[in-house]
Formats: sequence, structure tokens, C-alpha cells
Amino acid sequence: MKFNIVLLGVVILFCISIVTSDTNYYAGVGIADITGPAAEVNMMGYANPAQTSHGIHLRQFSRAFIFSASATGERIVFISIDACWASGAVKREVVRLLGAKYGGVYTVRNLVVSGTHTHSGSGGFSQYLLYDITALGFNKQGFDALVAGIVQSVVMAHNSVQPANIYFNSGELLESNINRSPSAYLNNPKEERAEYNYDVDKLMTVLKIVDAQGKGMGMISWFAVHCTSMNNTNHMLSSDNKGYASMLFEAEMNNNAAPGQGPFVAAFAQSNEGDVSPNTKGPHCIDSGKPCDILTSTCHGKNELCIAAGPGKDMFESTQIIGTNQFKKAMDLYNSATVKASGPVDFRHSYIDMTKQNVTLPDGSVGYTCKTSMGYSFAAGTTDGPGAFDFKQGTNSSNPFWNLIRDLIKDPSEELVKCQSPKPILLATGEISVPYKWQPEIVDNQLLRIGDFLIVAVPGEFSTMSGRRMRSAVLAAAIQGGMPATTTAVIAGLANEYADYITTYEEYQIQRYEGASTIYGPHTLSAFIQSYSHLATALAKNVSVPVGPSPPDLSSKQISLLPGVIFDTAPLGKHFGSVVKDAHATYTPGSTVTVEFVSANPRNDLMTNRTFLTVEKKSSEGVWSVEFTDSYWETRYQWIDESIILGESNARISWDIGNNQAEGTYRIRHFGTSKSVLGKYTKFTGATREFEVKTSTH
Ligand SMILES: *[C@@H]1O[C@H](CO)[C@@H](O)[C@H](O)[C@H]1NC(C)=O
Ligand SMILES: *[C@@H]1O[C@H](CO)[C@@H](O)[C@H](O)[C@H]1NC(C)=O
Ligand SMILES: *[C@@H]1O[C@H](CO)[C@@H](O)[C@H](O)[C@H]1NC(C)=O
Ligand SMILES: *[C@@H]1O[C@H](CO)[C@@H](O)[C@H](O)[C@H]1NC(C)=O
Ligand SMILES: *[C@@H]1O[C@H](CO)[C@@H](O)[C@H](O)[C@H]1NC(C)=O
Repeated sequence: MKFNIVLLGVVILFCISIVTSDTNYYAGVGIADITGPAAEVNMMGYANPAQTSHGIHLRQFSRAFIFSASATGERIVFISIDACWASGAVKREVVRLLGAKYGGVYTVRNLVVSGTHTHSGSGGFSQYLLYDITALGFNKQGFDALVAGIVQSVVMAHNSVQPANIYFNSGELLESNINRSPSAYLNNPKEERAEYNYDVDKLMTVLKIVDAQGKGMGMISWFAVHCTSMNNTNHMLSSDNKGYASMLFEAEMNNNAAPGQGPFVAAFAQSNEGDVSPNTKGPHCIDSGKPCDILTSTCHGKNELCIAAGPGKDMFESTQIIGTNQFKKAMDLYNSATVKASGPVDFRHSYIDMTKQNVTLPDGSVGYTCKTSMGYSFAAGTTDGPGAFDFKQGTNSSNPFWNLIRDLIKDPSEELVKCQSPKPILLATGEISVPYKWQPEIVDNQLLRIGDFLIVAVPGEFSTMSGRRMRSAVLAAAIQGGMPATTTAVIAGLANEYADYITTYEEYQIQRYEGASTIYGPHTLSAFIQSYSHLATALAKNVSVPVGPSPPDLSSKQISLLPGVIFDTAPLGKHFGSVVKDAHATYTPGSTVTVEFVSANPRNDLMTNRTFLTVEKKSSEGVWSVEFTDSYWETRYQWIDESIILGESNARISWDIGNNQAEGTYRIRHFGTSKSVLGKYTKFTGATREFEVKTSTH
């Protein structure tokens, strides 16, 4: 008996060793909903105060990936979120909550949060003032949803950690990105430009994760392109081109499971997209249709007339095309990935005060970084979304947050002007600290390592050439420090904190939007490269790096001027969920159903991991099954405030019936929560009539 148990033990150990002997790593993946308030909150990205959320096109998700070289070894976590970027305040809270659950396994040093840069997510999740102005300050509801979703995705990844193998691949993806500041790019040295075929990076890099049986668990791709296919007239929350690519990949790997319901997780992460637009038709004057003035991106002196679009007929089709292009390329690279990773899983992280760095310049002199500032071109915006942010001192705006702080703005000091030269300073953000800091000074500098693969997590938007210089410098330092010559590196952009743009010194001289938004002055890039080179050397030689100064915790100082939901009412004779505009009796595939319900403010309940709508199909037994929810491409949920004073609102729901949709009986339902005058929350639902989908109407 005893002998048998021992034998059984030996057999089990033997089996485990068979399973693990041909896997190099342990990995786990997870996904969770992070969608913010679908009403009245400014959408982060275009800084257009008029662009507030009014519904949902695609839900936003957090996608988490955990890696370790052994079951008990140190872990690294890479998280890609369908958000404009990751803020330090969000990362701090995520790490705090994970610490309460798992002790010191996940820390600021081994965990990276990187944003996809969608410009259609709700804003107000930074602790620094400038980024929250259009959102009327800090938005706790959106912040909490973002943090909770990220934590949830890491918990899921933690629970799925198992023996795994990791493969890499890369290849060129064409016709999916263009440079939106080519005149700045052209100021880079001719010899340097001659090393590259394009003025944007066309390379997509893919990491493939499979379990011990070879079954796919997850995929991360990096490709540099702004998530600005949806333009600044869009009011529905959306994950834009990269989120759509993720949904396509996950649907294919998960047997068409509902969006965000795993188990396979596919992240389309952001890279050095600072000067890179998805609007491949390029900028044109919207009045004449002619190309804009190339140096200034204006039409007869007006920046708001110069707008880039394409490749589709409208922003939805453009999102679909750029998303599908990334999805198809990533799938090709995933299927043909054969380079198997081996070697240590490791990381290096330092907090750096970017306003206090010095760098030795090529001529031997010393260059200094500066206190933060924004240049004039920042207010003009970009051709992806011209400036709508009225930054002129002393003007009154309809934004109460702006009115509250505009008098605090002061002229830049002589020292700042000199340090930031040739930038004409619009906002001397580094010299104002009331009511609290406007932009970050201390930011995360971080590297993750999986074998010979390096993830260079940077706290901002690197321009194409900045990213190339950073990759080369990190690789050179890593290889010199002893890593193999075959080591590769990707830039993971918009990670951990947002320090705006990072252009090259030469691009900075041109002071287009990206240069105007390079906040630590002309030597910003050199200082970052210096710091990341130290991290790479330390990683290669396995020595420690300083922790650095801690960023401030400004959570207790946050101001928020967005009023809460006061109350909801249904018009006389109607109730919440009443159908205002019903479906027709029949539809053909390829047409669109549009219906409307009496509704309430979606801020009463974000419906996280649930839905504001369902499209349901009736079986022959009379049982309804859900075919689509609000996170599908095929559906749109628009929230329409009929009367703010009376608290009346409607939900307009549309469903684009696919050409291959099965014939049958369908209905659309709407779900919401209303708030009474006394503050009581009540759930409600409504349903349309039953309608038929038929290929022929007779
Ligand atoms: C979302 O809900 C589904 C059930 O509908 C559940 O299986 C899943 O675990 C939930 N996901 C999260 C992240 O809570
Ligand atoms: C946004 O895209 C829509 C088409 O979907 C177009 O009508 C509109 O002019 C665009 N606006 C801007 C500011 O790009
Ligand atoms: C550059 O910075 C280092 C430490 O960060 C400091 O020791 C050194 O004195 C500085 N050099 C100059 C020229 O300011
Ligand atoms: C802004 O509005 C206030 C109050 O309406 C008014 O007193 C002030 O003169 C206005 N300032 C400007 C620059 O228009
Ligand atoms: C780095 O050194 C530590 C001991 O100081 C050791 O535990 C660890 O395994 C080393 N890591 C690598 C990647 O060699």
C-alpha cells in the first residue's frame, strides 16, 4: 500500500516533468470590462469639450498577461487597456489592490499598464490637472471602473497561470498608417532617414502564448498607429481600431464567444505612434477638398478646416478597415511564429524626475531637461482632430473647470523660456502648482524581459524616429551588457503615466503639435534614452537599479465639477423601458433596425460585464437566446437627453443585420437603472415587438 502510494507519487512527478520539460515558461491571461460612464463625461484624447459620451459602440477591455520562468519564480505582468493611456494614479491603485490580495507578487516595478490610445473612452482618470480639464476634473466613477477592470483581468490571469511556451514573430503591415507631421520628420538627419524605407514604422511584432499542449492562450501585438479612426464628432464609447482588431482575433480563437468573455485573450498594444495617424487618405481642406498647407496643417490660415480621414467612406468604415488590417496581419504572424523564447523573465524599473536630468551631447557639452510646459501648437491640435480647446488667457469658456483655473496661469519665467527654446510657451505648467500639479515630473522608466525579448515601457507618445533611437540604444546597451545579438525590443507606449509626447531634438525645432507637447524641453528624448540604457545594462548584467523618488499622491486634492445624476423621469403616460419607436414587422439581411426606448441616465449603473441592450432570437420552442450585446460591432447604443430639466432621456438602439444573419423571429431589449427624485435606484427593462428577418419580404 505504502509502496503503491510512493510509486503513484513517482508516476505523477514523472508525468508533471513530461508536461513541463518542453515548456520554457509559465503564463496566464485575463480580460475584463473597463467601460466608463456612457453619459456626459468628456472623452479623452481630442481635448474637445463638446465631445462627451452619449452611449456605447464597443465596450473597452483590460487585457492582462502574466509571465514567469518557473512556477515560483519572479513574475512580470503586461496589461493593455482600451483607454487613451495609463495614468500613474490608476497604476498605483491597481498595485495597492493586488497587494491586498496577493502580497508583494505584483508591484509597480514588475507590472506595466499600457494604453491603446483610443480617443473614444471617458476621461478624468489622471491625478494631474491638465489632462482632466475637459472632463471637468477628476471622474471617480470612471477611475473606479478602470481600476476594478484592470484588477479583475490580472486576477483572471493569475488564476490561469500554467506551463506555457512563447513564440515571437514580426512582419510589415502596409497601408495602415501615415506620418501626420512629415515636415518635422524631415528635419531629422538625412543619413538617419536613409536607414529607413518609410517615415513611420510598418513593423508589427507579435508574441504568441500557448499552453503545454500547444493550445493557444493569448497573443500580444505591437504596431504604431493612433487610435483615432473614430473622429472627434463621435459620442459613443469605443475601443477604436485596436479594440476592434482584438475583438476579431478573440472571436476567431474563442469560437465566436461574446466580446470580453475569453478564454483566449488578444491584445493590440500601442507602440511609438506619436506622429502616426490611421487616417491614410491624409489631411485635406474640408471646404475645398485640396491638400492642406503641409508646414502648418492649415487651410487659408485656419487649422480647424484641415482634417485627415480615410481609408473608409466614414469613421466607422475607417475603424473597420484599419482594425481588420491589424487583425489579419497579427493572425498571419501568430500562425507562422516559430521563434521560441527561452531565458530569464526579469524587469527593471526606476522612477525618474524628468525635469532634473542632464545629458552629454554629441559635441561634449551638457544639455538639461526643463520644468514642464506646453507650446502654442498644442492648442491648434492635429489633423486627426483640430484644436477645440480655447487656451487663450483671460477668455471665458463654457467649461467651468477652465474658468476656475485660467487666472492661475502666469507668464513663463525667463529660465523656462531659455530651457524650452525654441518652444513658444503657451502654458508654463511646471511653474504652477495650484490647485495641484498640472503635469507629471516623476515618471516610471521600465523594462520587461522575456528571454531575449525586451518590452520598453515608456510613459508617453514617442514619435517614429524617437522610438527607433530608443530601441537601438536599449538593444546596444543590452547586447553590450551580455545579452545575445539576436535580442529584440518593442516600444510599449502610453505606459504607466502620461508625460505627453517625445520627439527627437530635430523634430522639436519644428514645433508642430508633437514638439509643442514634448514637455521636458529639447533634450527630453536624450534623457529618456540615457535612463533606459542604464536599465538595459542593469538588466543584462543582473545588477539592481535605484528605485528613485516617489511620485506624489494627489488623490486627496482632486477637484471634480461634473454634477451627478439628479433624477430621471419618464414622460406622462410612459414608463422606463416603454418603446417610443418600435421595430418594423420585417427586415432583410443587410438592413438596419433602429428603435427607441424611454430610458434613464446610464451613469446610474455602468453595466460592467453586462449590457444596455440585447438582440434576441426566438427558437422553435419559443425560447429567446441572446445574439448580440452592446459590445458588438453590429450594435449601437445612443443615449439621448431629451430634457435635462425634467430628467427625461431616451435610448436609441440600432442593429446592423449582417448579410449572413439567420432568418427568424427577433426582438431587441433595453436594460437600465433609473434614479428617483429621492435618490432611489430602480432597474428597468423594455422590449420591442417581435420582428422577422427574412431574405425576401414576400
Ligand atoms: C462576466 O460575466 C460572465 C457571465 O456572464 C462570467 O462568466 C465572467 O466571469 C464575468 N467576467 C468578469 C471579469 O467578471
Ligand atoms: C468625422 O467623420 C464623419 C464621417 O463618419 C464626417 O462626416 C465628419 O466630417 C468627420 N469630422 C471630423 C471633425 O473629422
Ligand atoms: C548630472 O546629473 C548627475 C546626477 O544625476 C550629477 O551628479 C551631475 O553633477 C550632473 N552634471 C551636471 C553637469 O550638471
Ligand atoms: C468673463 O465673464 C465674466 C462674468 O460674466 C465677466 O465679468 C468678464 O469680463 C468676462 N471676461 C472676459 C475676458 O470676457
Ligand atoms: C540575478 O541575480 C540574483 C541574485 O542576486 C539571482 O537570484 C537571479 O536568478 C539572477 N537573475 C538572472 C536573470 O540571472
